[in-house]
Amino acid sequence: MARLAYESLVFCVLFLLFVLFSFAAESEAKVHFHKWKVNYQTWAPDCVPVTIISINGEYPGPTIRAREGDTVVVQLENLMPTENVVIHWHGIRQIGTPWDDGTASMSQCAIFAGETYVYKFVVDRPGTYFYHGHYGLQRSAGFYGSLIVDAKGKEPFTYDGELSIVLNDWWHKSTYEQAVGLSSNPFVWVGEPQSLLIEGRGKFNCSATSKSCNATNTQCSPYVLPVQPGNTYRLRIASVASLSALNFLIQGHKMTVVEADGHYVEPFEVDNLDVYSGEAYSVLITANQNPSQNYWTGVNVRGREPTTPTGLAILNYLPNPLTKLPTAPSPTSPLWNDTKYSKALAKKFVALKGHEELPPLQSDRRLILLNTQNTINGYIKWAINNISLLPPATPYLAAMKYKIKGAYDTTPPPDVYSPRNYNISISPPNPNAIEGDGVYVFKSNSVVDVILQNANILKGNRSEIHPWHLHGHDFWILGYGEGVFNPAKDPANYNTVNPPMRNTVALFPFGWTAIRFKADNPGVWAFHCHLEAHFFMGMGVMFAEGIDKVGELPRAAMGCGLTKNKIHMHH
Ligand code: C2O
Ligand code: CU
Repeated sequence: MARLAYESLVFCVLFLLFVLFSFAAESEAKVHFHKWKVNYQTWAPDCVPVTIISINGEYPGPTIRAREGDTVVVQLENLMPTENVVIHWHGIRQIGTPWDDGTASMSQCAIFAGETYVYKFVVDRPGTYFYHGHYGLQRSAGFYGSLIVDAKGKEPFTYDGELSIVLNDWWHKSTYEQAVGLSSNPFVWVGEPQSLLIEGRGKFNCSATSKSCNATNTQCSPYVLPVQPGNTYRLRIASVASLSALNFLIQGHKMTVVEADGHYVEPFEVDNLDVYSGEAYSVLITANQNPSQNYWTGVNVRGREPTTPTGLAILNYLPNPLTKLPTAPSPTSPLWNDTKYSKALAKKFVALKGHEELPPLQSDRRLILLNTQNTINGYIKWAINNISLLPPATPYLAAMKYKIKGAYDTTPPPDVYSPRNYNISISPPNPNAIEGDGVYVFKSNSVVDVILQNANILKGNRSEIHPWHLHGHDFWILGYGEGVFNPAKDPANYNTVNPPMRNTVALFPFGWTAIRFKADNPGVWAFHCHLEAHFFMGMGVMFAEGIDKVGELPRAAMGCGLTKNKIHMHH
């Protein structure tokens, strides 16, 4: 009897140890090592061959998949013979590794032609993210891919399978030609995109071009989302669009929005979803329509008068063959200029109760940033509080950490625009702005509010949508408003009860957007309009905090601008 009890006790202990060990193994953080070669490549995303920047010969780039708490290591070899490169991990906060944020002139020196750089960072939060080039217009050259972080524990929704797409707009003109036009006087605008791509695939009408165009090239066959009838899928949707605000929809299917930029939201159902450049979502879809058919998923332009046809992919109800093309016409989105619709949709996002951190009720500092289109010596630029960002030769992080003299303007830009009675509803009477590279420096762990204030562009009666993206942090969206932000009245209407947390937010025409964040991540961080052309034309600002807490920078992140000499002197 005693022996039996003893034996069962031993068994119990062993069993417990087994459970504990397997649990430990389960929750142990992993390191994901990737070896990437970056090079030019000919590719035909919309059937017209162009030169793109590819990773390991793939377009879009390889998907990184990791689990919350894991470490991602990417050994990046720049094989482009004539061009430098960096990769930004969009949505990853780089806590403790600000030098691996992948922003040229900001967090690191660009990786020179022929050189290798190793990015190493922890993915600390589950969600839908992506990566892209952050140098010149490289993102527009197809240099991007998905980064998906799985949750360690249970998520607040269930599904049978997962699908993932990145949306993009596409030009046939090379990014070099685009960049030259944008920085010329007279200015040459990039124009509207030729195609909209879903997961790197679109279809240009070959009969409409004299360029070489092969409609049967498999590179431009529509992307396929395979589904089993009756199942529910988590569809991840992100946008790296260069210019266009997009609207995504699936013919005959509703979508339930559950995640935005790595944060859970109170689920809500939509027929179509606005996706601004820099944003990422998860929606749940159920394959509950007539299973004998396939369906179109489509993407359309919003906010600018569209001249670009709908981008299409196929929702493939298995086992239907792909040759069974959907019979319905291309799906249509709400009218491009129905901004009311877009604003109402944006306001539907609230944090999922009990799952998300709430904002501090007060802030320590408030910036009011006026977004204007300006001219500098006849060149067209975008400016924030009348300063157009021109990043310096020496990366900010090195310059600030090692106190390199003369690397950037140490006079910070103004917290508030002036004159305070600036008329946002007319084109600027004095369109002159200046170029600058100053930094907003925040007290460590202080709470910062930023009000983005939109205005009329240079000419005509128009104001554009700008999707603003913050590096190194997530922020709470406190509210959106019409016209001029009123500091005496508007804060009373802030949502501090369940504001969504994001890393990208839209600034609507002639309105304002208010965000709040904690300056709790030592480093130097870009905050900018995510439209490639706008950022290129100076539409951004620099934030910094806790520089004294930043660890030693890897040598490979330096070695350009004034850094090399000064660092040698410093040591
Ligand atoms: Cu996805 Cu600074 O950008
Ligand atoms: Cu913009």
